[in-house]
Amino acid sequence: MAANMMNTLLEKLHLTSPDRGAPAQAPSEEDLKELRQKYEKANQGHVFAFYDSLDVQGKASLFDQLSSIDPDRINILADKALHPPKPSADEEQPSIEPLPSSATASLLDASQDQQDEWYKAGLGHIANNKVAVVLMAGGQGTRLGSSDPKGCFDIGLPSHKSLFQMQAERIWKVQQLAKHHASSSTDPVVPWYVMTSGPTRGPTEKFFQEHKYFGLAKENVIIFEQGVLPCISNEGKILMESKSRVAVAPDGNGGIYQALMLSEARSDMRKRGIEHVHAYCVDNCLVKVADPVFIGFSSSKDVDIATKVVRKRAANESVGLIVQKNGKPDVVEYSEIDQSMAEATDGTGLLKFRAANIVNHYYSFRFLETMEEWAYKLPHHVAKKKIPYMDTESGESVKPDKPNGIKLEQFVFDVFPFISMDKFACLEVERKEEFSPLKNGKGSSEDNAETSKRDIMDQGARWLRAAGAFVVSEGDSAGVEISPFISYGGEGLEYLKGREIKAPAVIERAEGNEE
Ligand code: UTP
Repeated sequence: MAANMMNTLLEKLHLTSPDRGAPAQAPSEEDLKELRQKYEKANQGHVFAFYDSLDVQGKASLFDQLSSIDPDRINILADKALHPPKPSADEEQPSIEPLPSSATASLLDASQDQQDEWYKAGLGHIANNKVAVVLMAGGQGTRLGSSDPKGCFDIGLPSHKSLFQMQAERIWKVQQLAKHHASSSTDPVVPWYVMTSGPTRGPTEKFFQEHKYFGLAKENVIIFEQGVLPCISNEGKILMESKSRVAVAPDGNGGIYQALMLSEARSDMRKRGIEHVHAYCVDNCLVKVADPVFIGFSSSKDVDIATKVVRKRAANESVGLIVQKNGKPDVVEYSEIDQSMAEATDGTGLLKFRAANIVNHYYSFRFLETMEEWAYKLPHHVAKKKIPYMDTESGESVKPDKPNGIKLEQFVFDVFPFISMDKFACLEVERKEEFSPLKNGKGSSEDNAETSKRDIMDQGARWLRAAGAFVVSEGDSAGVEISPFISYGGEGLEYLKGREIKAPAVIERAEGNEE
């Protein structure tokens, strides 16, 4: 497909928030007629049900939003997602195997020398300003149930730092570590590209401004926006949020590719000479942002994509797995493998399929430069949701109590099968050091604010003990929060050797002046 044709197609799919800058003028009769016909032909004419009753502003903004949507394209996507082709009886089952050992390594058994080598290589790239990070923060966090974007969430640490703040401080620290490593006189820069969406952009920008970008230079924090797609009823109809607005939702974390390409983000990376990109999810409180070990590992293997995984806890843990499917890197969902595969062991007693997906990736910039060739191929998945909508027959707003429609979402890891196995690598990391996601609200049993806080505090206490300090506590509330300004990954705590630290505590200052 010609590149310009494809860009048009991608642009059509990439609808950004229609809220800002809506024109205050109603469209001409002719333009309106043309658009109406287009929707009627696509069997989606109901979106105009209340058009005539709207004021000028309402008419203009609905016209503007509808013009940015291609109803035929939405019909195709919805149809594909709602009626996926059934595999025919004679179709061969895909071959699913663990990744070849040439593509994998594990921090659980790599030698210290090897880890140091990756770490230093990664710091070298950071010192040379070759590393960028992309944060996926466009999700609506519906399970968590907070009205603010997830990154603003206070998980209840003694410092009350938000997820955004912890990540910003880790970026600051890794820049300092790289500077020290390279004995550089200037501060290296790891630009931070923060992907938001229609619902999260405004509050995210405000939060960053209010907190002065958490000490990072404003020009190195680039907030950009992913696309949204209309929400669809179970019958394939575009849902209206109100009389003058289509209900839309972010197009999934796989929207990252189109967003990088269509916003200023990728060209900004190009200008800066970026070669290595770390992408991660906002809700992992333990994430090692711009992790030098991961950057060093991936770059030394000269791959285009690498991913971090944690070890699956038990055969029945419901997690996506990184595998080799028909010879290509891929992710299979828990439901896609049968029990015997889930339980199979590899001879060492470990589960054969144990590489649990944590959506934490490395990309070579040269690969991101080829996005025009593959971004449009990413499939759309169905997420069945309770979507508040306006009934276009009665004009009433409805808050459904069971899923009444779908959101169309792309997944960031669906790109894996687009590359060959020799351009892919996988690094197993310690779950307790690197992965604790915030997914659920109060009263849930896992992946919530309490588990996030506990995992940070436990990690701090572990780091201190490893450095020779004594952590003592009187109750169950053991644990120490260590500011990322003090330590990125457990380093630099030797000055506390032999000291007694009463948990719970916060270590905020390098002089050992803990609170
Ligand atoms: P989840 O799939 O867990 O979604 O996102 P969520 O929005 O955080 O939570 P729920 O499902 O509504 O409860 C995993 C990561 O992908 C990002 C999220 O911000 C999170 O970092 N994401 C998700 C996006 O960036 N864009 C999206 O459209 C969806």
